[in-house]
Amino acid sequence: MAILITGAAGYIGSHCCVETLEAGYQVVGLDSFVNSKPEVLNRIKAITGRDFLFYRGDMRDKDLLDRIFTENQVDTVIHFAGLKAVGESVERPLDYYDNNVCGTVTLCDAMLRHGVRRVVFSSSATVYGTPERCPIPEDAPLGPESPYGRTKLMIEEILRDLCSAKEGLLSAVLLRYFNPIGAHPSGMIGEDPQGIPNNLMPYITQVACGRLEELKVFGGDYDTPDGTPVRDYIHVVDLAKGHIRAIEKAASSKGVMVYNLGTGRGYSVLEVIKAFEAATGISIPYRIVDRRPGDVPVCYADPSKALRELQWRPEMDINQMCRDSWNWQSRNPMGYDAR
Ligand code: NAD
Ligand code: WQD
Repeated sequence: MAILITGAAGYIGSHCCVETLEAGYQVVGLDSFVNSKPEVLNRIKAITGRDFLFYRGDMRDKDLLDRIFTENQVDTVIHFAGLKAVGESVERPLDYYDNNVCGTVTLCDAMLRHGVRRVVFSSSATVYGTPERCPIPEDAPLGPESPYGRTKLMIEEILRDLCSAKEGLLSAVLLRYFNPIGAHPSGMIGEDPQGIPNNLMPYITQVACGRLEELKVFGGDYDTPDGTPVRDYIHVVDLAKGHIRAIEKAASSKGVMVYNLGTGRGYSVLEVIKAFEAATGISIPYRIVDRRPGDVPVCYADPSKALRELQWRPEMDINQMCRDSWNWQSRNPMGYDAR
């Protein structure tokens, strides 16, 4: 039996392909490359020494999904494919609802028609909106504040409805990621954003390699110890390993299960800058500017449910996250485009 990984060429999907192949599973990948590059596939094969089937195409293409499920014996889908830029989702909400929500409906329909009963879904801490308190448990109130975040919550609800409609048949593991950073220790795969990075760590690494001049720190007057926002950064390899536990959980239990994947420890923006400088010896010029609209002051996970029920515990600290982010960026200053 095989695992279908949608969004296999993306940042988290590529790391999950590596972990899944190394755990001995047969992998089938699907990606349209709307936000990734084909070169990543060569890198995954080089790291693992294993080949895998890959389909280039869109998850909204019903005929393609039928072909994938007919040509392969898939028993579980790990569903990463989606658009993920919060700001862009405010500008172009329909693209997000169409791609993320309609794409998932098409995928689920194909899964059910082909008898595939297990799905692991990439949700996000963004479904909690502005948390009432931290650490955030899975049963905290939900209230995403962007179209992107609402697509994540809608997909969670679609999967919940499917599980109750097909009770006893379907299992869905909803994984709410906090802030993934870092890269595979080989430095062969990592995060390769198109254009100017929206997220903190790729911005820092691009300043470190000279692609960008200085980091703009969005707001220094939050009600936090140093005035900058606090987030729960998690190493992408730890995150990817959580998916192996989730596959096993989906195989042994029915219904919907939801887990935070974070470390439970928060770092401010200034602490991340300091950690990066300490880990790499490179100084990061920065300037504090206005707040970025929509940013919450503090967000970190209560990851104890994943520890209890998935026996999953993140192993890598902020120093390792910074080292591996820099190892990837310094070996690939222009990402997968460099030749
Ligand atoms: P990414 O953009 O690197 O990867 C997503 C992949 O999906 C890309 O390779 C893209 O080409 C592909 N894709 C998008 N729409 C598609 C479609 N219709 N058909 C086929 N392929 C399609 O993003 P990522 O950081 O790897 O995130 C993976 C998933 O995790 C996303 O669903 C994202 O919303 C979620 N997530 C990410 C973060 C984060 O900070 N990176 C946090 C929480 C949740
Ligand atoms: C972290 C901190 C910024 C860039 C986003 C999505 C969330 C999830 C993860 C998908 C914040 C500050 C950033 C910069 C800065 N993705 N920052 N200068 O906003 O916590 O979460 O990615 O689900 O949905 O919203 O992550 O890395 O963008 O920001 O000062 O150039 O770094 O203000 O405090 P965020 P981030």
